Amino acid sequence: MEVKILTEHYSDDNYRSLDGYKAKGGYETLKKAFSMKPEDIVAEVKASGLRGRGGAGFPTGVKWGFLPNNGEPRYLLCNADEGEPCTFKDRMMMEKAPHQLIEGMIISAFAIGSHKSYIYIRGEYVYAAKVLEKAIKEAYDAGLLGKNIMGSGFDHDLDVYRGAGAYICGEETGMISSLEGKKGQPKLKPPFPAVQGYLAKPTIVNNVETLAAVIPIIRDGAAAYRKNGTEKSAGTKLFSVAGDVNKPGNYEVPLGYKMIDLINNECGGVKGGKLKAAIPGGTSAPIITAEEIEKATLDYECLAEMGTMLGSGSIVIMNDTRCMVDMMKVISHFYHHESCGQCTPCREGTGWLHKLVTSVITGQAKLTDIDLLCEVANKMKGRTICALSDAAALPVLGIVPKFRDEFEFYIKEGYSKVRGKSHGQMHH
Ligand SMILES: Cc1cc2nc3c(=O)[nH]c(=O)nc-3n(C[C@H](O)[C@H](O)[C@H](O)COP(=O)(O)O)c2cc1C
Ligand code: SF4
Repeated sequence: MEVKILTEHYSDDNYRSLDGYKAKGGYETLKKAFSMKPEDIVAEVKASGLRGRGGAGFPTGVKWGFLPNNGEPRYLLCNADEGEPCTFKDRMMMEKAPHQLIEGMIISAFAIGSHKSYIYIRGEYVYAAKVLEKAIKEAYDAGLLGKNIMGSGFDHDLDVYRGAGAYICGEETGMISSLEGKKGQPKLKPPFPAVQGYLAKPTIVNNVETLAAVIPIIRDGAAAYRKNGTEKSAGTKLFSVAGDVNKPGNYEVPLGYKMIDLINNECGGVKGGKLKAAIPGGTSAPIITAEEIEKATLDYECLAEMGTMLGSGSIVIMNDTRCMVDMMKVISHFYHHESCGQCTPCREGTGWLHKLVTSVITGQAKLTDIDLLCEVANKMKGRTICALSDAAALPVLGIVPKFRDEFEFYIKEGYSKVRGKSHGQMHH
């Protein structure tokens, strides 16, 4: 069942404005935060078990604790790049509840002692950027941003920075380079941004949903937040569900919720055929089959045990009319296009994967090329500057062994086992 904590007021159009937000208790939690010690806010976030909602699921309070106490200025960056294919939860939050993000950011900034923050938003999100800019202006005019916020003595400035549409600028060090006006290319870690980030100063990068989740944690306390979710995956999470379901959209459910219940209850069941497979956490997450979906719970642990991941929480449902060779072609095209090219295994490997799967479709592949696909993917894992190379390799290592028959059939017969000789809908 949906549990609406972050999405409670999405249906109220007025919630977008400062007055509408305040009418529902907006900025009351900020007032409460100013009555607390910053270190107590960090401790509460740690105790809540909140894990980053951007993909990696790293504990937020622990990350905040990595900031060095060296007296240098600190920056807070909100990752609103939302580049993972089929993820659209952050866009909806920024459009429906911009003040929620702003309040979450001011509380977080106060907790970590930062006086300057940016929302790095993907260039395509024109409307969301406008909504945010308007809300930020309202907040400045009401004394909720700028000098001496709410008479607390705390100063904070917040700006929106629009990206130019590169997926790699969602990777935190790529984002920092882009924000500095450089090419958006990732850097080797360590040093981690918490130690040396934006302008080489200590920097915390958090996802939109992570920063918004700080509000209920501080408002109701860590124990109340933990009432939803599991021991290791606490709270609620937004899932963007797309593909072959009757009611695609964003749903907020407690972590640990059964995936099949989300599909059948909230999303109104599978559309256009029988359930075949799903990508559980963005296209970087390996695919799972219908049998696995029946057993899957939506938490970090269960999906990791199944060899996949919760990632950003975007779920793509596929019915039995979907050809897995087509699917892989779409995915590999994306990563090849988005590789920044710094590391050889990623630059060359993503191209090889795309070429190999294309050759299956154009009838130029041999049966041995199926193993070659896996061999290339295996050589791309764990040896590059950032995780894009793994994100491109892992889907292949999931899809090929699980649907090998579809690849073999295509190579032997020259057409798709699933859609016959008709042209696929997904050609690049
Ligand atoms: C290739 C790549 C793309 C990423 N894209 C995003 C993104 O669009 N949004 C996001 O929040 N995190 C993205 N991340 C994860 C960020 O690097 C970072 O871990 C995250 O913003 C931290 O926030 P969190 O701790 O709140 O999850 C991406 C990572 C990689 C490797
Ligand atoms: S892994 Fe790929 S995207 Fe990441 S830095 Fe290397 S080449 Fe760029």
